[in-house]
Amino acid sequence: MTKPHHFSLEAAVRPNILALKPYRCARDDYSTGILLDANENSFGTCLPPTLAPSLLPSTPSLLPATSDTPTDTHLERYPSPHQPTLKHLISSFRALNPTTGPESLFLGVGSDESLDLIVRVFCRPGVEKVLVCPPTYGMYGVVAMVNDVGVVEVGLETGDDGRRFQLRVDEIKHHLRTDPTIKILFLCSPGNPTGTLLHHADIKSLLDYEHYKGVVVVDEAYIDFCEPGASVATWTEEYPNLVVTQTLSKSFGLAGIRLGISIASPAITKIFNATKAPYNISTPTSLLARAALSPAGVAQMREHVASITSQRSALIAALATLPDLAPPRGGTDANFILIPVLRDGKPCNTRAHAVYKRMAEHAARQVVVRFRGMEKGCEGCLRITVGTGEENKALVGLLGAVLGETA
Ligand SMILES: Cc1ncc(COP(=O)(O)O)c(C=O)c1O
Repeated sequence: MTKPHHFSLEAAVRPNILALKPYRCARDDYSTGILLDANENSFGTCLPPTLAPSLLPSTPSLLPATSDTPTDTHLERYPSPHQPTLKHLISSFRALNPTTGPESLFLGVGSDESLDLIVRVFCRPGVEKVLVCPPTYGMYGVVAMVNDVGVVEVGLETGDDGRRFQLRVDEIKHHLRTDPTIKILFLCSPGNPTGTLLHHADIKSLLDYEHYKGVVVVDEAYIDFCEPGASVATWTEEYPNLVVTQTLSKSFGLAGIRLGISIASPAITKIFNATKAPYNISTPTSLLARAALSPAGVAQMREHVASITSQRSALIAALATLPDLAPPRGGTDANFILIPVLRDGKPCNTRAHAVYKRMAEHAARQVVVRFRGMEKGCEGCLRITVGTGEENKALVGLLGAVLGETA
């Protein structure tokens, strides 16, 4: 770690978390041999033998020889608390430092677990705060509130000057400088619901800001939909005050398995691992994630991303042929677009909400999008996830009809 010099992990982490002696579970000590240490069921799972293997991918070819322990694959055993095989695969997929990469990874039950854990590690309830930049992912505010942690808001730029949905860096710095109780700065890049990648120079300037002693979290849930080089994950090798979160829920198409990833310095990651529940990643999740990160899984992911990207362009072109819709308000760096619905040429929340409801409740074919008109800078906007060609065609057909009915 070379910079920044103004950050001290010991000063940033809550004192009770720093003092935590991690719970040691049975699997921390031994995971091979006759395992009579964890009150498991040596007779095996209750699932019919025909069913259990079919729920999981055929794994042997995916697993390095060293990982062949019962806790890696047997459902009657508690899973590995540390998931070394999966961490090695993620580390090499994300081109992290081969030596320190696996120690830089915390795995959670979706990004949502990581976000909650980050708040619990850094913010004292009732005393400290997070800073969020709306319009942004709503869970930052929710996990803060659940943990009795205050939320300071500095909206993204909303103008038409080419910096729309970028950070207002000076304003953020003002809050960080004048309110030392702010411990976490949540950034979302590419943003939800903005679809806009944040400028790297802005993120760097906040990481380097000497008056801020907390951490910067960059949520990269949609990063694989961007051009290569968009991720700041490898910056964690340089910046001890940076945490990057990612997920298998989006580009990998595995929202159902709940696998979130946080990338940070080994020192921060050690604290996250000491704070988490011991067996938070289930064996089916781990096996499916390992299959996803195999060469075949990654190739399939890339193919899907390419299809989504080309469908996104086709969808934007098709929507441009409909009346009373403006071009996308946000960027095209994710698998969704933000489209304003107009009345008399101006974005209109009443009409957008009526359109959203009619589409979701349509008698013949329901198409569900997300009304985002109440978010800052998103007046009249619907957030539309890019679907398959057929789904998008159905969306455009129904949206055209419903716009006619709600004129
Ligand atoms: C920006 C952002 N971060 C995180 C998540 C949640 O990710 P996960 O499914 O890994 O909990 C979402 C889900 O929509 C998201 O939009």
